[in-house]
Amino acid sequence: MTKILKFPENFLWAAATSAYQIEGGWNADGKGESIWDRFSHTPGKVTNGDTGDVVIDHYHRYREDVALMREMGLQAYRFSIAWPRILPQGRRKIEQAGIDFYSRLVDELLAANIIPYATLFHWDLPQALQDEGGWTVRSTAEAFVEYTDVITRALGDRVKNWMTHNEMSVVVFNGYVSGEHAPGIKNDYVSAIRTGHHLLLSHGWAIPIIRQNSPGCEVGPVINANYSPLGSNSKADRMAFNFGDGIWIRWFLDALYGRGYPADLVEQLQVRGLVPVDQWDFIQPGDMDVMSTTTDFVGLNYYFRYISRNNDLPEEENEPQTVHPLPKDNINWTEMGWEVYPDGLRHVLARLYFEYQVPKIYITENGASYSDAPGPDGRIRDDRRIRFLNEHFRAALQAIQMGVPVAGYFVWSLFDNFEWGHGNSQRFGLIWSDYETLQRIWKDSAFWYQNVIRQNGIEEE
Ligand code: FCB
Repeated sequence: MTKILKFPENFLWAAATSAYQIEGGWNADGKGESIWDRFSHTPGKVTNGDTGDVVIDHYHRYREDVALMREMGLQAYRFSIAWPRILPQGRRKIEQAGIDFYSRLVDELLAANIIPYATLFHWDLPQALQDEGGWTVRSTAEAFVEYTDVITRALGDRVKNWMTHNEMSVVVFNGYVSGEHAPGIKNDYVSAIRTGHHLLLSHGWAIPIIRQNSPGCEVGPVINANYSPLGSNSKADRMAFNFGDGIWIRWFLDALYGRGYPADLVEQLQVRGLVPVDQWDFIQPGDMDVMSTTTDFVGLNYYFRYISRNNDLPEEENEPQTVHPLPKDNINWTEMGWEVYPDGLRHVLARLYFEYQVPKIYITENGASYSDAPGPDGRIRDDRRIRFLNEHFRAALQAIQMGVPVAGYFVWSLFDNFEWGHGNSQRFGLIWSDYETLQRIWKDSAFWYQNVIRQNGIEEE
């Protein structure tokens, strides 16, 4: 008989999605335009010109979708709320139909015995606010508080687990440095750092309001932290590491945990002229205290390892003592071009706990893009996804055995969906989405996950 590696009794097995990636109904029932509507409707921005206009029409089919979750045995479900459904212009005028949608979704989940975990901001900022400067201006942080108050008043009696922002670092860098995400601005570090500041600030401002409107709730941010070891011990690589790790991870975690912005990074940004010394007046007295308001948990999105190297230097200068050989084979990469590296999850979990003393961690996203499609018999044999999840679950279990308080696992994603700049071309789902017929088909990994949940563990290999 195969031995089952059991997870702690109250461990939460779950899956995640986000509003823009599955809902469709982009202008239904008074919803306002979001920056992702604007971005995807702009030719050339998204692969194949895909948009979030329909995707899998979850907005109209949520009942069917909750039934699938129940069948799979999900104990919790992480979804996000589209701000422009609630306040189409970002502030003031409330759209009741939008609130009603989430209210029905929550009721449906509770009736199916599935605990709702709601993310307040998963990137679909109302376009009206972007027109006023988006997250680069403080008034957007104030608008976020208004939105949070409205939606948590409406749902706070039933939703008891709240996440503020999803992956602030991605909003900052993909939105304002690489430009791959809405609003699609490139190499603007001043706007990027201002954006991060107002996201962090609004996160802190929102917490007491959420607690007030949702008595007994738990609240936390969702960060993304991938694993980035040093490529070598060369000076160049160490600098690349400090900058990359600093700007993507320490910048946010240090601020959230009361350490302020990392001094070495502030200096780097100034010295390199990315954010000149006279451009820091957006930080007002007290802001850093607000950001480090205590939370109940941190949500961690983990996907891959990236090896920190200074790619601007010639190889000979760059690679005197390579510690991590760069992997070359294909099986170690998902179709996103991300390296499969389960052990990195264990490292990052340990870091959150030992370096920042995070009291409770949910893995709020982890999963893989593989495009395995239905075979002639209709079955979807996504063995690579099963292997990926199995190995990552095991890494999480090892972290738990080290004493790291990992409370649950939200697989990304329940369905194939709109993968931002990649459109529908990248498939992360446990469930296959047929974008023509809107049929949902279980992949082998969905059946496998159902069994993991049932036995609260994975098979020892
Ligand atoms: C994360 C996002 C999520 C999804 C996955 C693949 O960065 O939070 O919406 O796109 O990546």
